[in-house]
Amino acid sequence: MANSMVPTLLHRLVLVLLLLLLPVLNSGQAEGCATPAAAARRGTSLRSQAGALLHWKSSVKYSSKHQLGTWGDDGMYPCNWTGITCGDTLSRRGTMGKVITGISLDGAGIAGRLDKLRFQSLPYLVNLDLSDNYHLSGAIPPGIGSLSMLSTLNFSGDQLSGHIPASFCNLGQLTGMDLSSNNLTGQIPPALGNLSRLGFLYLRGNRLSGNIPWHLGQLQNMREMDLSLNDISGHVPSALANLTNLNYLDLSDNRLSGPIPKELGHIQTLQVLHLEKNNLSGTIPPSLGNLTVLTYLTAYRNQYTGTIPAEFGMLSSLISLDLSDNHLTGPVPYSVAGNLTSVTYFSLFGNHITGSIPHEFGNLVNLETLALSDNLIVGSVPSSIGNMSSLKQLIIHNNSISGELPTELGNLVNLEYLMSYENQLSGSIPPSYGKLVKMTQMRLFNNQLSGPVPPALSNLTNLVVIAQPGSLTHGFGRPWVPDPNG
Ligand SMILES: *[C@@H]1O[C@H](CO)[C@@H](O)[C@H](O)[C@H]1NC(C)=O
Ligand SMILES: *[C@@H]1O[C@H](CO)[C@@H](O)[C@H](O)[C@H]1NC(C)=O
Ligand SMILES: *[C@@H]1O[C@H](CO)[C@@H](O)[C@H](O)[C@H]1NC(C)=O
Ligand SMILES: *[C@@H]1O[C@H](CO)[C@@H](O)[C@H](O)[C@H]1NC(C)=O
Ligand SMILES: *[C@@H]1O[C@H](CO)[C@@H](O)[C@H](O)[C@H]1NC(C)=O
Ligand SMILES: *[C@@H]1O[C@H](CO)[C@@H](O)[C@H](O)[C@H]1NC(C)=O
Ligand SMILES: *[C@@H]1O[C@H](CO)[C@@H](O)[C@H](O)[C@H]1NC(C)=O
Ligand SMILES: *[C@@H]1O[C@H](CO)[C@@H](O)[C@H](O)[C@H]1NC(C)=O
Ligand SMILES: *[C@@H]1O[C@H](CO)[C@@H](O)[C@H](O)[C@H]1NC(C)=O
Ligand SMILES: *[C@@H]1O[C@H](CO)[C@@H](O)[C@H](O)[C@H]1NC(C)=O
Ligand SMILES: *[C@@H]1O[C@H](CO)[C@@H](O)[C@H](O)[C@H]1NC(C)=O
Repeated sequence: MANSMVPTLLHRLVLVLLLLLLPVLNSGQAEGCATPAAAARRGTSLRSQAGALLHWKSSVKYSSKHQLGTWGDDGMYPCNWTGITCGDTLSRRGTMGKVITGISLDGAGIAGRLDKLRFQSLPYLVNLDLSDNYHLSGAIPPGIGSLSMLSTLNFSGDQLSGHIPASFCNLGQLTGMDLSSNNLTGQIPPALGNLSRLGFLYLRGNRLSGNIPWHLGQLQNMREMDLSLNDISGHVPSALANLTNLNYLDLSDNRLSGPIPKELGHIQTLQVLHLEKNNLSGTIPPSLGNLTVLTYLTAYRNQYTGTIPAEFGMLSSLISLDLSDNHLTGPVPYSVAGNLTSVTYFSLFGNHITGSIPHEFGNLVNLETLALSDNLIVGSVPSSIGNMSSLKQLIIHNNSISGELPTELGNLVNLEYLMSYENQLSGSIPPSYGKLVKMTQMRLFNNQLSGPVPPALSNLTNLVVIAQPGSLTHGFGRPWVPDPNG
């Protein structure tokens, strides 16, 4: 009996102690998400806000050119200090008073850490920009969670390290967060999924690892999310498809694996999707063809298999499609070749594409780069290519393309590169190519071409490489420039 009472009493004591300590812990550390927003706000006069700034200033170095040096020279009125913005607030006594609402010290040459910045003394802060201070290092203190009115935060281009503190979940007013180009490690805290106003999340260029938390799919106001250039692994969570206001999603340059969730095709607002340089596999979901405002779709250097969905012909806003360096098979769908009239860049090199070059490509009058090299393409170069009036680069080498080079290609006055080596082209170079005045590289070696080089080509004054020596007859007075790779 007596024995069993001891733990109970102890439990109660611990519980009471915990209850007493909890508010203190929360307002001090702001580690949990239960902190009442206004807890830290009481009793912070403008003077103590200024004091917090001066306290931090004395702990860091800064560029001698920056006016940070003059802080405090004019007394304790921070609203006139460089980089500081004040706003008005109604005090408890009903009078209007100044409070610090903004700190903007981008590129101020600050060297040091954030530890000595007492965020608890700056509870009215709305905008905090310490970006491009390359020697601002150390961890982001958990105390940052006490900035309950913070709307925008920019630490990009600093040298912060350590984890992203979970206390960020207390920043309920945050609309934009830019921590890109730092040295942050650890996982993306799932707690960020609680920042319901967040519209911009930039974490590009850190060393973040772990998975993408599905919790980010709760951020209904999210418009731009950039997690690129990190070490993030695992699958792309299908919950991201719940971001129904998303315009921009960049997951490139990570270690993501598995398929692209087909649900991403539901994000009707998506304009940019970057997935390149990961280890993504499986087939490319046809549902992405429903993204009618999509302008950029880049997924090169992954492990995708299967065919290019014919539904991509519905991507009427597309400007750039890059699926190169994957394991894609099958032909280029006619719908894709003929319908994407806004496309300027189209690249499928380094796959296992079969079939011939669709003559529908002739419809793509805005296309500047067509790259189909290193595939298994057969058939001849369609004469319709001569209608692609914006074409600058035609890159089709290392296929099994046969037949003669079309005369119509001579109409492409913007053409700068014609790479068609390692194919089975026959016949000779049409004299019309003398009109390609912008041509700088024409590589046609390792084909079955014959006949003289047309004299008209002597007018191509920018031409550097035409073929490897000996593969064609010299037709004009300029010396051959040997192909460095030939
Ligand atoms: C702040 O600057 C303004 C304009 O330069 C000046 O009139 C005012 O006296 C300054 N306030 C304080 C408290 O120094
Ligand atoms: C953050 O600051 C950098 C450098 O000052 C700037 O280029 C970037 O656009 C800012 N980020 C946001 C979201 O405004
Ligand atoms: C990032 O942090 C690691 C240690 O965690 C350090 O070795 C490296 O130099 C840092 N990189 C930069 C760019 O500061
Ligand atoms: C989000 O907030 C709720 C309450 O506001 C809390 O219960 C939950 O733990 C938070 N989620 C995360 C991931 O922090
Ligand atoms: C996404 O939406 C679906 C359906 O509306 C819902 O069941 C799911 O819980 C949501 N996921 C997230 C992470 O919000
Ligand atoms: C990529 O995924 C494949 C399986 O699909 C796996 O065998 C390989 O190790 C992964 N590569 C990297 C670099 O993660
Ligand atoms: C595209 O959207 C329509 C209407 O929402 C839907 O019926 C169709 O299944 C979607 N297509 C794909 C390929 O998901
Ligand atoms: C190609 O575009 C036409 C007209 O814009 C459209 O009717 C057709 O559905 C598109 N084809 C495909 C396969 O998307
Ligand atoms: C030619 O393309 C194939 C893929 O179709 C590739 O495996 C091969 O390495 C390429 N050859 C050269 C010389 O690049
Ligand atoms: C090129 O375009 C013209 C005019 O739009 C059209 O009449 C002609 O058939 C096209 N040529 C080819 C080879 O597709
Ligand atoms: C080179 O261009 C000039 C003027 O543009 C033209 O008169 C001449 O015929 C051209 N030479 C050849 C060989 O086509």
